Amino acid sequence: MKRIILPFCVAVAVLAASCNNSTTETKKNMQDSTTTVALPDAKTYQQTIDGKQTNLYVLKNKNNVQVAISNYGGRIVSALVPDKEGKLRDVVVGFDSLQGFVTSTDGYYGATIGRFGNRIGKAQFTLDGKVYKLAVNNPPNALHGGPKGFHYAVFDAKQTGDTTVELTYLSKDLEEGYPGNLNVKVTFTLTDENEIKMTYEATTDKKTVVNLTNHAYFNLNGQGSGTILNHTLTINADKYTPVDSNLIPTGKLDPVAGTPFDFTKSTAIGARIDEANEQLKNGKGYDHNYVLNAGQTQDLHLAAEAVGDQSGIVLQVLTQEPGIQFYSGNFMSGKNKIKGGIADDLRTAFCLETQHYPDSPNQPNFPTTTLEPGKAYKTISIYKFSVKK
Ligand code: GAL
Repeated sequence: MKRIILPFCVAVAVLAASCNNSTTETKKNMQDSTTTVALPDAKTYQQTIDGKQTNLYVLKNKNNVQVAISNYGGRIVSALVPDKEGKLRDVVVGFDSLQGFVTSTDGYYGATIGRFGNRIGKAQFTLDGKVYKLAVNNPPNALHGGPKGFHYAVFDAKQTGDTTVELTYLSKDLEEGYPGNLNVKVTFTLTDENEIKMTYEATTDKKTVVNLTNHAYFNLNGQGSGTILNHTLTINADKYTPVDSNLIPTGKLDPVAGTPFDFTKSTAIGARIDEANEQLKNGKGYDHNYVLNAGQTQDLHLAAEAVGDQSGIVLQVLTQEPGIQFYSGNFMSGKNKIKGGIADDLRTAFCLETQHYPDSPNQPNFPTTTLEPGKAYKTISIYKFSVKK
């Protein structure tokens, strides 16, 4: 048999081409956890929006954990954290360029949410006898601060070192219908304990309502690596706030015991998600506020813990807030191409949004979200990463 000897350069080129093809194939379908992950290129995050410059701010700690923050919507764009083998995985859903966030059908990826996280029923509330009508974006409700909430605002940014970036924004009186000029500051700090610490501060010149949170979508096996239904989750809450079919709390605090909402012991997210249950039907899965056992606290308390079934990556959420929204990605639709050109398919990420309860301005029995002039709003929440071997 005659052997065909290819010149070295041709052989290399053929090999490279076939490698490239298979890499593209893999990438198209799902993130390959063995590929080296990297933060997006900062250049692809530089644009002028509303006359302001957007940029990407990189935080890095001594463990080589890396977090990228965009001042467009105060977003966590990426978080590279080690898995059980010490290999970095990007556990936050995001896009390869800023444009992805601009055009995404879901505007909340990674974003700072404000002025009011979650829903306000019928998009209105009353303060001191005056009715404030809000912009409707989730008929008939106002959701996550309105159609142009903080997720679409360009914050002013100041990186103060390798591990901290400060974002500030003035939300003007009656922006999206909310009263008062609200000066907001969100500080992201990456600690050497592999924590993303988010410090939210705000002051107002008129009585208003405030409920700030972060809307990172996590996949602890690596963004784009498939379903999160096999992740396990624990939430330190014996009660939750059931909702009507518009996802507005009924006002009751119901026990989770004996229901698919009981995550007091570590349970797979998907274990009960398809059970016949009216609340799961209302949320199209989990999309509910949990009443944290610790309540609103001076010190940080552990609200929830999730574990990636393949990576062993553990996410702990610590907060001072009295509630946390567990959202199991039920509206993810595959319409958006996240980092690596992968589709954002149904339930391939989840959110744990620390917060005051939804619709608080209309629910006198819920802890208050009112902020008065002369008073300071300050609350800290943390995403802490570790591994379970
Ligand atoms: C969640 C909210 C969901 C959905 C999602 C974004 O915070 O609870 O109902 O709106 O954001 O798609």
